[in-house]
Amino acid sequence: MSATRTVTVDLAGRAYDIVIGPGLVDRVGELSAKLLKAPRVIVVTDETVAPLYKDRVVASFAKAGVKAQAIVVPAGEGSKQFAPFGELMNRLLDRQPDRKTTLVALGGGVVGDLTGFAASVLLRGVDFIQVPTTLLAQVDSSVGGKTGINTRHGKNLVGTFYQPRLVVADTDVLDTLPKRELLAGYAEVAKYGLIDDPAFWDWCEENGAAVLAGDAAKRTYAIEQSCLAKARIVAADERETTDLRALLNLGHTFGHALEAETGFGADLLHGEAVGTGMAMAFDLSAALGLCPAADAERVRRHLGAVGLPMRLRSIGGDNRRTWDAAKLIAHMRGDKKAEGGKLTFILARGIGKSFVTREVDEKALSALLDRAIAA
Ligand SMILES: NC(=O)c1ccc[n+]([C@@H]2O[C@H](COP(=O)([O-])OP(=O)(O)OC[C@H]3O[C@@H](n4cnc5c(N)ncnc54)[C@H](O)[C@@H]3O)[C@@H](O)[C@H]2O)c1
Ligand SMILES: [Zn+2]
Repeated sequence: MSATRTVTVDLAGRAYDIVIGPGLVDRVGELSAKLLKAPRVIVVTDETVAPLYKDRVVASFAKAGVKAQAIVVPAGEGSKQFAPFGELMNRLLDRQPDRKTTLVALGGGVVGDLTGFAASVLLRGVDFIQVPTTLLAQVDSSVGGKTGINTRHGKNLVGTFYQPRLVVADTDVLDTLPKRELLAGYAEVAKYGLIDDPAFWDWCEENGAAVLAGDAAKRTYAIEQSCLAKARIVAADERETTDLRALLNLGHTFGHALEAETGFGADLLHGEAVGTGMAMAFDLSAALGLCPAADAERVRRHLGAVGLPMRLRSIGGDNRRTWDAAKLIAHMRGDKKAEGGKLTFILARGIGKSFVTREVDEKALSALLDRAIAA
């Protein structure tokens, strides 16, 4: 019996599969071979992932009769900048690719966004395959086709919508991921339950700890359900033209403000900020009388139990800071998702009943932030 699951993302004429399960790093070549326009790939990975998985992926291509070369870039968000991007384009061109060459992104969301963007413009567009190696990349950034880099004006402001030909998500590679990174990705998993799938949230409450501890079947299920949820929402609103895709930003208005305040650094990872932000979004929903207080309590209890930061005062280890509600609101206004100065929030009428609103009373918001800061 195969422990592998496949999710098909069906986006207007560009459908592709996400294959999920254990041991897939050694099967990337076999799974991709029939999709390649020519037996030639260039694997892009980072300095942390390369020593762990690069040779295995390259060997899997060799076994499938595909010539594979590799390019290693520095790990971290710094690689998603113009200069490193230009350097990558030149290093790709050094290897004399043609329009039938396929790029393979082996790494987290940074490598995925960077390589996807490179593929969309290299020789006016070559195919690419994603081998996401963080939980966040497996459940979020590898679905939906957004690629891009950062500028001094903000994150992801230069990029393309460009779908991969295939995504291969190996649940085993999560074993080498630092625990904090794993947990940060888990916040985005739980998010899909909170958005519109109360049964999946129940499942997360039961099984979240096992997912984090390494249960391969449960990891596969969690990633499958997450990809299905994101694919469903993205397919209905591929280019973010309606409010539907905005539901994916549950917890992100609060989270973005916390990240901005902590400098988008190691004090608070994106997924950690989203975890805290989702709890705050449910607390605000409860405070506004929209959502039962017991549901907000459940959100806090589960996310806190798996180890996500639930109290602002616990954020930043030794670099604890003084939080200020007005500053957090100012960060929310600076978010590119704030339309015409109006703050956009994803609130909820209960678990799995989220909705988009731009009508949040600022006094209630400020009071909620003051309570969160004092907690
Ligand atoms: N395109 C989208 O729709 C989308 C969605 C969400 C996030 N993103 C982007 O994703 C990026 C964040 O992605 P991320 O959280 O995966 O960060 P990341 O790519 O920086 O990976 C986190 C760290 O883990 C290391 N790592 C990766 N896989 C590993 C493994 N298996 N074992 C050990 N170490 C491993 C990496 O080298 C890195 O140091 C951001 O740039 C964000 O903008 C994009
Ligand atoms: Zn996110």
